[in-house]
Amino acid sequence: MQNPVSLDHLVRQLGVPASRMPAYVWLADRLNLLVAEGRLTPGATLPAERAMATALGLSRTTVVRGLALAEAQGIVAARRGAGRTVRSPRRRSSAFEPLEPGLGGPEGDQLDLRSSQMPPVDGIGEAMRHATESTLARLTPGGYHTAGIPELREAICAHYASRGLPTTPDQVLVTTGAVNGVHLAVRALAGPGRRVVVENPCYPNTVRTIAFAGSRSSPVDTEDDDAGHAMAHALTNSDAPCALLIPEFQNPTGRLMGEQARSRVLRAARRRGVALVVDETLVATNWRELEMPSPLTARGVTTVLVGSMSKSHWAGLRIGWVRAPRRVVDLISHQRLGADLGAPLHAQVLAADLLARPLPHQRWKRVADNHDLLLRELRTRLRTWRIDPVDGGLNLWCRLPAPKSEQLVRAAGSRGLLLATGHVFSPGGHGWGARLRLPFTAHSDDLVRAAGILAEVAGEHL
Ligand SMILES: Cc1ncc(COP(=O)(O)O)c(C=O)c1O
Repeated sequence: MQNPVSLDHLVRQLGVPASRMPAYVWLADRLNLLVAEGRLTPGATLPAERAMATALGLSRTTVVRGLALAEAQGIVAARRGAGRTVRSPRRRSSAFEPLEPGLGGPEGDQLDLRSSQMPPVDGIGEAMRHATESTLARLTPGGYHTAGIPELREAICAHYASRGLPTTPDQVLVTTGAVNGVHLAVRALAGPGRRVVVENPCYPNTVRTIAFAGSRSSPVDTEDDDAGHAMAHALTNSDAPCALLIPEFQNPTGRLMGEQARSRVLRAARRRGVALVVDETLVATNWRELEMPSPLTARGVTTVLVGSMSKSHWAGLRIGWVRAPRRVVDLISHQRLGADLGAPLHAQVLAADLLARPLPHQRWKRVADNHDLLLRELRTRLRTWRIDPVDGGLNLWCRLPAPKSEQLVRAAGSRGLLLATGHVFSPGGHGWGARLRLPFTAHSDDLVRAAGILAEVAGEHL
């Protein structure tokens, strides 16, 4: 039998039969939802009818009717002698939709909530003029600074020291943003044909770098994985040489990985020798000012911490970095010779200056207010949605009452509101049909307008 779904796991995911509809309709509905969310993998074999009936407390006839309905709906296939398997949903092109508006930007008065964009940090104009002066004084022949200019690497070391992780400049390589850092790390640590364990749901642009490196993603359902069990289990049971994680205010769920989950994941990684590529892009978005856990690294685990100034300062800088053991930085530097030979000097000079200044408090106060506003607006207007508050990050991850994310996004688009479908955050491109990610970085008036449009389209489609 190929890739069997465990009975326990299936029953837990299905939940309790709803009393407001016939049990066989409920069963087919739930199976539809689990497939749309990517929680049942295409090709997986369902448990036998009799075992399902006993575990769910339903009659066998009801289970057979429910499965037949799911079959008629095209999400389950019956194979003679091989039981029933989950069918592959239509691959959605939206998995490759541009998320960042640089590729196909908004038009006219369209409101673009496909990505969580922070404004440039206050004072950046003056810092830019200053950086131009400093760069003019460095107009030497060549101009390559492949590992990064010394003062920027020092500033990055100071950033880690302030988070309790002593770091030396030879453990740092400046990159053109976090996506570039993740790409180089995956090339160095996994390579062609190898697997990389990724969180599901996950930020799509870093997952995309895995395919560009010739490696393959192994998604693990971590949506409800507050304690790190699912990730630790995946690391223990996979032959992947590395895993990609976002422990701080994960995109899209907003979750901050707690100490216990961190220890569990680090223990599993150490035991199996799995290297961790840790995307720390959102670490600065701690607008509730929580006490933060130490960076996700430990003795005996190869860890590449990937940082970025895109959220803290401005994405237009295109400055990020990797922080790793020296031998890994050497491997990554080697990969870089086939990529971009370094970040632009002017941006590096500017980044070093900006990193040395404290971030204005107002930057995060506005984000915190926006979070509360959007949450309130959505909860008042969309009472059947489940929308949990977050303590950091830039997005709300909304659970819809039905897998209609695509329909809602299409309908919202025709009213001038651009959104990403839930599928975009599924590494396979076909999960999370009952989710929407809503960033709260836009102007407060725009957030209120977006909630209004969503209420209209939800009224028509849900
Ligand atoms: C988790 C995560 N990683 C990386 C990025 C992009 O980082 P950069 O602009 O530094 O490449 C984002 C942007 O939203 C993100 O949320």
